[in-house]
Amino acid sequence: PLVTTGELVTQAAAEHSAVAAFNIITLEHVEAVVAGAESAEAPVVLQVSENAVKFRYGRLLPLARAAVVAAERASVPVALHLDHVQSDDLLRQAADAGFSSVMYDAARLPYDQNLAGTRAAVDWAHAQGLWIEAELGQVGGKSGEPPLDAHAPGARTDPAAARAFVCDSGVNALAVAIGSTHAMTTRTATLDHDLLKRLSASLDVPLVLHGSSGVPDHELAAAVAGGIAKVNVGTALNIAMTGAIRDFLAAHPEAVDSRKYLSVGREAMMRAVTGIIRTVGRPAA
Ligand code: G3H
Ligand code: ZN
Repeated sequence: PLVTTGELVTQAAAEHSAVAAFNIITLEHVEAVVAGAESAEAPVVLQVSENAVKFRYGRLLPLARAAVVAAERASVPVALHLDHVQSDDLLRQAADAGFSSVMYDAARLPYDQNLAGTRAAVDWAHAQGLWIEAELGQVGGKSGEPPLDAHAPGARTDPAAARAFVCDSGVNALAVAIGSTHAMTTRTATLDHDLLKRLSASLDVPLVLHGSSGVPDHELAAAVAGGIAKVNVGTALNIAMTGAIRDFLAAHPEAVDSRKYLSVGREAMMRAVTGIIRTVGRPAA
């Protein structure tokens, strides 16, 4: 069934586990994430990023409608989240398109501008009954962004600043920069667990890990134990899908039916989803 992101994250945080949130781009992503969650017998979040909307000719609804129907028919709880939103126009489409939550992304801006933009987004979101996540400190590595120096001060979330930011903005959850980077194609990130512990102690909202594709299983498990309640994964699905399709086409150069290779790609994504949920999540009650 279709449920809200707020309830899944709250439940995960209460159980010291995390809900996995996967970025969907194609219908195959939608089907693979739902099937992977059903196979793990655990709840999941389907998230659509602003970049994915741009890829879909700027239209949110076709993919959103598919995700809503897939969620309604799933045997496990599934929520819809609008991810990395910078555009006010897109933000305002969230509720009508079936999303129960949004991530408002102004982390690239100086603190005061991030806070002001986030606070306005929170006011609007809460008036709509939406759960809202924002980011302080920069995870970096998003497509279209200049590369970030992983050791620059802005590349980590400061606990005292985070406490003030959450308090002054009213966000429901905070994405924190603790060493992960978006779009990594190797699982070699090491997280700053000491910083995570301090963030967790300073904040009373659930914490979100972005760029989780580059984080190895043992680091993910430790992050969840340290207070991460939502784990965002995108690139890992593209690695699985593209790798499987590349291998299939190399072995079958005569193939023309797109279903043949899309089903192989979908299978590979589904296995990746199940594996990540087993690492960070819990069985559905
Ligand atoms: O918000 C989406 C995630 O942070 C995805 O990051 O593609 O590096 O897994 P990733
Ligand atoms: Zn992200």
